[in-house]
Amino acid sequence: MGNNPKIKQLWIIYVITVIYLIYYTYSTRIFYHWILWKYNGTVPTILDEPHMTHNSSPEHAGSQGPYTQRPYAFLAAVKGTKTVLISAYLEHRTDKKEVCAIAVVLRSEKVAYRCVFRCQEKQLLSNGVADIHTDHFGFAYGTANIMCPLPSGCETPSSIAVTSADASSTNDPNQEFLEVKNQQEKTESFPYNFTVCISTMFDFTNVLQLVQSLEMLQLLGVNRVVVYKTSCSPETQRILDYYTQKGLLEVIPWSLSRYVNVSRGWLPEHGPGELHYFGQIPALNDCLYRYMYQSRYVALHDIDELILPQKVVSWVELLPLLENKYGANKCYMFENNVFPINIMLAPPASQSLPPQTDWKNVTGVNILAHLYQEPIIEETHYSNFKIIVNPRAVFSTTVHGVLKSQHGCSWIDRNIARMYHTRFPRQPNLAEDKLIYDGRLLSYSAHFTPAVNKVLRETGFLPEHSTQ
Ligand SMILES: *[C@@H]1O[C@H](CO)[C@@H](O)[C@H](O)[C@H]1NC(C)=O
Ligand SMILES: *[C@@H]1O[C@H](CO)[C@@H](O)[C@H](O)[C@H]1NC(C)=O
Ligand SMILES: *[C@@H]1O[C@H](CO)[C@@H](O)[C@H](O)[C@H]1NC(C)=O
Repeated sequence: MGNNPKIKQLWIIYVITVIYLIYYTYSTRIFYHWILWKYNGTVPTILDEPHMTHNSSPEHAGSQGPYTQRPYAFLAAVKGTKTVLISAYLEHRTDKKEVCAIAVVLRSEKVAYRCVFRCQEKQLLSNGVADIHTDHFGFAYGTANIMCPLPSGCETPSSIAVTSADASSTNDPNQEFLEVKNQQEKTESFPYNFTVCISTMFDFTNVLQLVQSLEMLQLLGVNRVVVYKTSCSPETQRILDYYTQKGLLEVIPWSLSRYVNVSRGWLPEHGPGELHYFGQIPALNDCLYRYMYQSRYVALHDIDELILPQKVVSWVELLPLLENKYGANKCYMFENNVFPINIMLAPPASQSLPPQTDWKNVTGVNILAHLYQEPIIEETHYSNFKIIVNPRAVFSTTVHGVLKSQHGCSWIDRNIARMYHTRFPRQPNLAEDKLIYDGRLLSYSAHFTPAVNKVLRETGFLPEHSTQ
């Protein structure tokens, strides 16, 4: 080049022109990849991906481009990791707005997560942080909330994917996206007063107790029941279909087995596998967020458990009592009382049972035939309780009680309300005379028995003109 200033000037103009042409051709795409390369893909910044704009426009609908809208996923693997995403919810309660992705993670795996947001026509990134729940019962996998801060300029992301920060590209055309739910925060007027979350129904055949529990729950004021279903008998399915059609039930198909070997036990020594009890904990957490703005209260318990008020009839009347006595927005803990199903004792002579001969032909446990409970013993007194919560005051939950919440938990006096758990005995060697009669359920008989019979007739388990 020598020292001729004219040639130097021309050279500079030439280089600028070439750079501008390249920039013009590839526009922000180059910048996008440069940023990813420079920061090894870890920069928590807004990256506008131009192809998104093109292929998601209506004239490209149905094309095979990378942003062709695929249906939202329920369960999506985080590529290059053992993490599985269950669902994603906008979190309105923290200082900075973020998306909470409920996930199952291999606890020993250290992953830097990148969250990929779809925001109107843009695709934006931020770094996700996993909060692994402390309750995992010693299994290799556990539940986590992967928190993804909203990138600026992205107030209402429609969907989200999570990748490993090590992944070479956030641009995988097969990337599965989860819908971001809970777009609107609500503080009042919910469609449901009480929602019960029933987690992980598997190999289920107990038709009679299922119908009885669902009818009792409605008498208590419950408007919605959510069942996470892995497997059940065809007869059970008939009942689930019936209640789904009636609008009481939401059944969520629940199988994590494509991603992780779930255990049938609640401790590793009770059954082989890598995740506690069919993934009960992620199911409960999903239910809590799913109904956060749909239900005033959420109860987390099993289908063989019923929380019965002792001084009032329904939960609608019970909750104001609890809020007065223990404070509002707490998680209310109800003492577990076991009514063993191997014991068939007639109630005391003064008590009369409603007619129930027809139920003998229906598979399953008849809760009215087991009105004697095991005494409460010290070892079990403060375990196996279940809860009713205001879901908007809770961040994460486990099987018994919440993990993170705004106002903590309170034990409920057993004379105000307690839980009736009709199941195999917890104290199998107990002499019969140690069992204690409790006929609280019978006080619902007048409404309960006809309601159960009606459902059994309408689902074909009892003849149409049965006597009861
Ligand atoms: C919810 O509870 C209120 C009383 O607190 C009652 O008036 C209302 O009818 C209930 N709503 C439903 C859907 O059951
Ligand atoms: C479950 O365990 C089996 C046997 O140990 C293994 O071959 C399989 O890959 C595991 N499946 C998953 C999804 O981890
Ligand atoms: C119950 O089953 C028995 C034997 O199959 C039958 O005789 C009886 O009529 C059934 N009762 C009802 C109420 O369906």
